[in-house]
Amino acid sequence: MAAPHPDKTPAPSDDWWRGAAIYQVYPRSFADGDGDGTGDLAGVRARLPYLAELGVDAIWFTPWYLSPLADGGYDVADYRTIDPAFGTLDEAEKLIGEARDLGIRTIVDIVPNHVSDQHPWFRAALAAGPGSPERKLFHFRPGRGEHGELPPNDWPSQFAGRTWTRVEDGEWYLHLFTPQQPDLNWAHPAVREEHEDVLRFWFERGVAGVRIDSAALPAKDPDLPDFVEGRDPHPYIDRDELHEIYRSWRSVADAYDGVFVGEVWLPDAERFARYLRPDELHTAFNFNFLACPWDADRLRAAIDDTLAEHAPVGAPATWVLCNHDVTRTVTRYGRADTGFDFATKAYDTPTDLTLGTRRARAAALLTLALPGSVYLYQGEELGLPEADIPRERIQDPMHFRSGGADPGRDGCRVPLPWTADAPYAGFGSRTEPWLPQPASWPAYAADLQAADPGSMLVLYRTALRLRRTEAGLGDGRLEWLPAPAGVLAFRRAPGLLCVVNLAAAPAALPEHDHVLLASGPLDAEGRLPGDTAVWLRG
Ligand code: GLC
Repeated sequence: MAAPHPDKTPAPSDDWWRGAAIYQVYPRSFADGDGDGTGDLAGVRARLPYLAELGVDAIWFTPWYLSPLADGGYDVADYRTIDPAFGTLDEAEKLIGEARDLGIRTIVDIVPNHVSDQHPWFRAALAAGPGSPERKLFHFRPGRGEHGELPPNDWPSQFAGRTWTRVEDGEWYLHLFTPQQPDLNWAHPAVREEHEDVLRFWFERGVAGVRIDSAALPAKDPDLPDFVEGRDPHPYIDRDELHEIYRSWRSVADAYDGVFVGEVWLPDAERFARYLRPDELHTAFNFNFLACPWDADRLRAAIDDTLAEHAPVGAPATWVLCNHDVTRTVTRYGRADTGFDFATKAYDTPTDLTLGTRRARAAALLTLALPGSVYLYQGEELGLPEADIPRERIQDPMHFRSGGADPGRDGCRVPLPWTADAPYAGFGSRTEPWLPQPASWPAYAADLQAADPGSMLVLYRTALRLRRTEAGLGDGRLEWLPAPAGVLAFRRAPGLLCVVNLAAAPAALPEHDHVLLASGPLDAEGRLPGDTAVWLRG
């Protein structure tokens, strides 16, 4: 029977972020304004009306700062400069203002765990040598072994391979990701001061929020001990010191009404929720839902767990189907294994895109009806599949560090198709874009989809419009309704029902007044076919 999640304090109406639909822009691949093959801010500015028409409340930009792009911009050389490939700070400020005028807020991405090896701090640290104050901003250590030829500890990398690199004078430095991303020492006050200053810098320029990259990783055990399975606390994941850091960040954000969304990948729900206490982060990404297979019981459990873990801290849940790191939704749902796991990504996985698209349409209506805020990743609204990138064109370090076994993340980062009948599907480039577009891309172009009532784009536009006008959607509560096996059915008071059929057989709909929106046609008896979802006035 109905199992509403526990009460939480009602949201003040200006807490826009509690129920927002936030669109993730990967600037390199969104739209190319100057035609050089790389997306840029001019491209985004030209497409702001598209985002307004789509009906999103905010844009999250993956890093747009000066960067050698060793990890797609997550290797920042200067937070106060826009990478010239993307534009200028002046353009960023104009973009923030223009978006705001269309009712769209801007969220930037801050990467506290590491900087680029081209960041002035790291260059200074290399030049200054062992024992210098400059090296104290990072984790430099002598090696182990007779001649220091062994790394200082055995930590595994988030990207496969080593976490330590040796420099010319013999010392080693720590990098949880690539060697081009040296980890900062968060026990150092200058590291904290600098990041709070960077937050102020962007809030002063009108951004409404900040996404915190790898938010559970920056704090390290100062002794940098070897990793021991099961030892608590972990030497570098989810350490208690982080909470004090984020409390301090919160006081910076509060001065500007700014909000945070943390990238917190943690299996332990209680530990996860600690980041969402009222004086810490406002929200965090819900990766358990993202990784969940297309299975009614598993999805229901993921939804219930999410709501239950957020309730005690009063934070709204977030819902995410995909982002720039994971396999595109229509592809994932068209495979035998419909969950997501970095470890199981492989080449040549059989995929049924018709099935995957049908499920992705249903998943869109499910996700957009859940209580809390929702993140869409550019191209999700076009139903883009994961692209096969020829090996010689792959750029993602995850691919190289896996020795080529992992196809990497470029398949979800391909430049968007805007116009079917234009070079490079209207991405805007005069030369071949930085990643090649598959031959199928023009068929997914936004202009074709805008004119097709059965397209993914029209489904997202319609659902996002309803999300704004339906009182029950966004932040609030959910009440499960009785439903047959394989069917999820819930009410969002006052009057919206969402029913999703994940079973093979058609399902009878609960009592209702009329259909508001369906991901596919009902059958001749008015039943909901498998892999289809519907919103009802009830
Ligand atoms: C986050 C980003 C990912 C990046 C990594 C290192 O997981 O989403 O794209 O590679 O952090 O900064």
